[in-house]
Amino acid sequence: MRKGGKFTDSNNGALVSFEGIDGSGKSTQARALAQTLQDRGYDVVLTREPGGAVGAEAIRRLLVEGDPDRWSAETEILLFNAARRDHLEKTILPALASGKIVITDRFADSTRIYQGAARASLRPLVDKLHALVIGIEPDLTFLIDMNPKAALARGLARRSGEDRFEELGLEFQERLHHGFLDLARDNPGRIRVVDGARPVAEISTDVAHQMQDWLKARTP
Ligand code: ADP
Ligand code: TYD
Repeated sequence: MRKGGKFTDSNNGALVSFEGIDGSGKSTQARALAQTLQDRGYDVVLTREPGGAVGAEAIRRLLVEGDPDRWSAETEILLFNAARRDHLEKTILPALASGKIVITDRFADSTRIYQGAARASLRPLVDKLHALVIGIEPDLTFLIDMNPKAALARGLARRSGEDRFEELGLEFQERLHHGFLDLARDNPGRIRVVDGARPVAEISTDVAHQMQDWLKARTP
């Protein structure tokens, strides 16, 4: 809901996700968009996956730390969906119901591509489980598109202790990259591909314009 009394209809809530390979600049852009929208008077919740709620953050630690072979792809799908369900119940749905714009750093597209396509060919399982326990899609998704070599160098430079997926290497990141682009091609209305190989401010301006156009288009 927009602050200042202009729009009072709680249907003004929106779910926006950022997707992309590790180190593509999603988190940087999610933060920048949240700040821009807040500055323009919108109520914004900035959140992330896996995580975004107390229980989901506990599940995150199981997922992002430890040996790359710690879980099978099937087990990961269950854990990511458990985390997402908690995130949805505790954070996303209450915020949408009160008319806020929820910006999430990753959502279900990550499971579609990491577990459904790149780690294993389990897209049917991912889609069935999503339909059963999640059942919603973002209104708008920004796919920050980035060359895997450059993104991997950025991501590993951080050494956050959460490198379980990044340690899967360049070939894995290439599969993710193609998977995300295929998904964008299949969902042209929802997923906007944004060139991530530009200065941070240039990308944020591009994203903010697209977001503003989308908000204008849906305002009655
Ligand atoms: P992600 O969330 O996709 O893993 P981050 O936003 O955390 O990516 O960015 C990964 C690293 O790259 C960070 O150190 C960040 O400061 C840097 N970074 C992000 N966007 C850019 C950009 N457009 N150009 C150069 N460096 C960037
Ligand atoms: P994230 O914190 O976004 O990592 P990064 O900032 O490096 O991109 O996500 C942690 C890891 O979890 C990341 O490597 C992607 C992976 N992941 C999946 O494999 N499936 C999922 O459904 C989600 C949400 C994340």
